[in-house]
Amino acid sequence: MIHPIVVYGDPILRQRAKDIEPGTDVSQLVTDLFETMHAAQGIGLAAPQIGKSVRIFVADGTALHQDDEENEPGMDTFKKVFINPVILDEDGEPWVFEEGCLSIPNIRENISRKARVRIRYYDENWNLHEEEFDGMKARIIQHEYDHLEGKLFIDYLSPLKKRILKGKLSDISRGQVHTEYRILAPLRK
Ligand code: NI
Repeated sequence: MIHPIVVYGDPILRQRAKDIEPGTDVSQLVTDLFETMHAAQGIGLAAPQIGKSVRIFVADGTALHQDDEENEPGMDTFKKVFINPVILDEDGEPWVFEEGCLSIPNIRENISRKARVRIRYYDENWNLHEEEFDGMKARIIQHEYDHLEGKLFIDYLSPLKKRILKGKLSDISRGQVHTEYRILAPLRK
């Protein structure tokens, strides 16, 4: 089922999401997250963005693969589910990339993040993994993980940048934004 995507201003995006009891059947949730993400042309989606405050996100970088084969080995198979993830370590040279977010439509900003992330997580079959990711894979993970912590990429911007975006953000929360996917805007009249 394709869900509407919860956008900026909804308090669920600011909550710390709750762990999922290991062994819980997450198959429907996983299907819904992938379907909703793909319908919106996203490369990552976290459960709070479909209105569920639980610790799971999905990532699918396979569409990026052709563009960036040289720089991103392994992107062709980077389609994953992360449940109850814990970031164990982040290191490497920080690098800047223009990020966007399905919950903050039509805003893209340069965000600096560390190059590597080490993460422990369960997959959709409740197998536990501990893995290291770098480059764009690490960035997708860091961005989606932030969603489970109630954090958004705009939180990293300077006070000046935030002030400049204020009007656009308030438009988004009122549903005054054009998207190719269905959204749930908290202050829509
Ligand atoms: Ni996002």
